[in-house]
Amino acid sequence: MLTGMSVIQVRGLEKAYRELRVLRGVDLEVERGAIFALLGSNGAGKTTIVRILATLLRADAGTARVNGFDVAAQAADVRESISLTGQFAAVDEILTGRENLILIARLRHRKDPGAIADDLLKRFSLTEAGARRVGTYSGGMRRRLDIAMSLIGNPPVVFLDEPTAGLDPEARLEVWQAVKQLAQGGTTVLLTTQYLNEAEELADRIAILHQGRIVVDGTLAELKGLLPPAKVEYVEKQPTLEDVFLAVVGDAAAADQK
Ligand SMILES: Nc1ncnc2c1ncn2[C@@H]1O[C@H](COP(=O)(O)OP(=O)(O)OP(=O)(O)O)[C@@H](O)[C@H]1O
Ligand SMILES: [Mg+2]
Repeated sequence: MLTGMSVIQVRGLEKAYRELRVLRGVDLEVERGAIFALLGSNGAGKTTIVRILATLLRADAGTARVNGFDVAAQAADVRESISLTGQFAAVDEILTGRENLILIARLRHRKDPGAIADDLLKRFSLTEAGARRVGTYSGGMRRRLDIAMSLIGNPPVVFLDEPTAGLDPEARLEVWQAVKQLAQGGTTVLLTTQYLNEAEELADRIAILHQGRIVVDGTLAELKGLLPPAKVEYVEKQPTLEDVFLAVVGDAAAADQK
């Protein structure tokens, strides 16, 4: 899959915290405009990968390029190319949604912060809520505002670390909608998630991180092709991503506990 179109290229990435070898040679590649979902159990190292790609953490070995720039040697260029939204919304509760956006646009020295704010409010269906204090927003609205804030400056690559953790199903749908729109606009999205249906719903490609390596990487159809369809009477039941995940991760995890 070395097409040269890859906007994220990771080779042999290794990272240990003292004796704990979290990443043991991670390879992955994400094409421009794709939504790529990184799955893994708690502690698998998903956030560690995102932090290395976002230049917040140095790898011990291996290489990673984002938007053509090396994360170690060209960190400033990488930072110009990305935005990162963590699990906890980094919005100011006292300000309104619109004021939050204007604040960030000013900090990033953008021209016409008001117009940028209004455009983003519209894109994320927050126009009406824009004049209200963020303290009154629902979890889904906050998360959407958080993602909107991270898009100021139109970064070509967006990292979303568990963008819907803790959200109710309705709020999750709202965030999914926002993520889909991003990718339709040509932005490359790398997201991590614990919700397998989120990956099924959103991702063009899915990778499963397990014991420090990517153990499976492919489209949803390819992943499902790893397991034979379970036949129940006359109805053919396709395996779900959950079946695939547990088959790949669960057996090994059960073995670990012995
Ligand atoms: N600064 C640190 N010092 C020591 N250990 C760390 C540090 N950061 C992460 N770890 C450990 O590295 C492992 C991977 O952590 P990481 O946060 O990357 O996992 P994750 O896949 O994002 O998990 P989760 O799904 O819970 O968010 C965990 O065992 C974690 O405890
Ligand atoms: Mg994490």
